[in-house]
Amino acid sequence: MPLAARSTVRRFSEAYLSRTREGMWEDSRDALADLDLPGRERILDVGCGTGELSRILAEESDAEVVGVDADPALLEVAREAAGIPVVAGDARRLPVADDAFDLVVCQALLVNLPDPERAIEQFARVSSDLVAAVEPDNSAVDVRSTVSREQRLERRVRAAYLEGVETDVALGETVADRFEDVGLADVSTRRYYHRKEIEPPYSERSLRAATRKASGAGLADHERELRRELADAEYDAIRSEWREMGREVVEQMQAGDYRRIEVVPVDVTVGRVT
Ligand SMILES: C[S@@+](CC[C@H](N)C(=O)[O-])C[C@H]1O[C@@H](n2cnc3c(N)ncnc32)[C@H](O)[C@@H]1O
Repeated sequence: MPLAARSTVRRFSEAYLSRTREGMWEDSRDALADLDLPGRERILDVGCGTGELSRILAEESDAEVVGVDADPALLEVAREAAGIPVVAGDARRLPVADDAFDLVVCQALLVNLPDPERAIEQFARVSSDLVAAVEPDNSAVDVRSTVSREQRLERRVRAAYLEGVETDVALGETVADRFEDVGLADVSTRRYYHRKEIEPPYSERSLRAATRKASGAGLADHERELRRELADAEYDAIRSEWREMGREVVEQMQAGDYRRIEVVPVDVTVGRVT
């Protein structure tokens, strides 16, 4: 989760990105079809973080993939783990020449910017052909769990988070309008459902996630946004119920009974520079 909000750049930990991207694009890459990856020569992945999307782009194309991010620590991971060249920079002022790439793409970047249109303008400036954004609709996440209160609590926390967060984390299909506003043509959107399933036998990561729930750490990830929306007593009550819920998850896991499915809708919007 975000480490802390610092000026206008929201920061993320390597562990958060690895945890939340697990399994993404492994089941199907159909929603990436309009990026025409096999036909690309130079791709810029803006807000690449640890290179989670960069790796997919490299696997699906013969292009040179370059990553840009505002966070030098994440870039270092992308350089080493994804094996891509990286450049430090702000998406709103890309340190890249006009028309230098034939695809400029981001994943989960626009939802973290107070002014996503500024970044889209930059994407259109540095692309000679395609611009794409892969953005989650965080308002439409669905959670099913064998711990019944997990579903209810997550819904409650998500609603408060959506109210408390300072950027539009549910951009969804509105990205298409923003693409058209900056003059991109042939704009299309495809939806991908990132499905995360926990069931026996439990992975190390699932066991760690359960421990995080029981300790309240999972909730603390969002504390800043939640406290903006909830009174102190309300936050404390939710935190205490959250930890109890976490303990129930751990108990169900010990008995091999715990199952959880989370589905995050992700919109892939593509436009062409005219
Ligand atoms: C949610 S993470 C997504 C990372 C990666 N694209 C992925 O999907 O795993 C958002 C990324 O955007 C970066 N970021 C946030 N604001 C930025 C800005 N103004 N310019 C460049 N990168 C930014 C963060 O450092 C972070 O790596």
